[in-house]
Amino acid sequence: MRRKYLIAGNWKMYKNRDESREFICELARSFDLVPGLTVAVFPPFVGLAGLRDLDAKIKIGAQNMFYEEKGAFTGEISPSMLQGLVDYVLVGHSERREIFKESDADVNNKVKAALRFDLSPVLCVGETLQERQAGMTEDKLKNQLEKALQDVKKDEMDRIIIAYEPIWAIGTGLNASPAQAQEMHHFIKGVWQEMGGGQDLTILYGGSVKPENGRELLAQDDISGVLVGGASLKVEQFSAIIHHGAQLLDK
Ligand code: PGA
Repeated sequence: MRRKYLIAGNWKMYKNRDESREFICELARSFDLVPGLTVAVFPPFVGLAGLRDLDAKIKIGAQNMFYEEKGAFTGEISPSMLQGLVDYVLVGHSERREIFKESDADVNNKVKAALRFDLSPVLCVGETLQERQAGMTEDKLKNQLEKALQDVKKDEMDRIIIAYEPIWAIGTGLNASPAQAQEMHHFIKGVWQEMGGGQDLTILYGGSVKPENGRELLAQDDISGVLVGGASLKVEQFSAIIHHGAQLLDK
């Protein structure tokens, strides 16, 4: 099977509408697409409209959404409102789970809503430092996957992307080693297949990915891309990670 990479940038609560537009134009000039390479950015909601039309080289994702289509849900954005604006939507990022108290049931509803509205969910899973130190990483990941995918039809599973993001590695500068990340990706693939999912699951690694460690992480067998936070906010840094992916595909 030919190798593919998705290099994705999660901008979190950074960049307003104008900054988002400028960034995308500059980023698009900084790299060439090669077969198998997909590049995506996940800007804040207010910047999303019109971004998809700026450059076909760069796909767009949302960082969150609610699962109802419409109604009295002040402050929320529905999946149907994202249709036509984005290709992907992040679901269950650890900051949503921890700061905004999203439950496994919320995450499950969001995954199903994204699929219903033809958006590709990027489902985030990952363990805390305490869970890792207590030897509970695999249990945590399996449990998060099972709960997030409850009642998802098998034939819809291939539209889901997984992001493995160990919480202790997010924004800390402390990335999982390539070997640690590979081990968890392999484990997730196994659980995925036990649950009825297909062979070529896209699993992104996220957590302090930088130009300096991006290449070695991307070179691992079961790592099919990266979800980059801090280093996706600067064109040179994000572009350097994209170039690692392009070079590895070119080999
Ligand atoms: P980071 O964030 O690269 O800044 O660690 C990753 C993420 O939260 O998706």
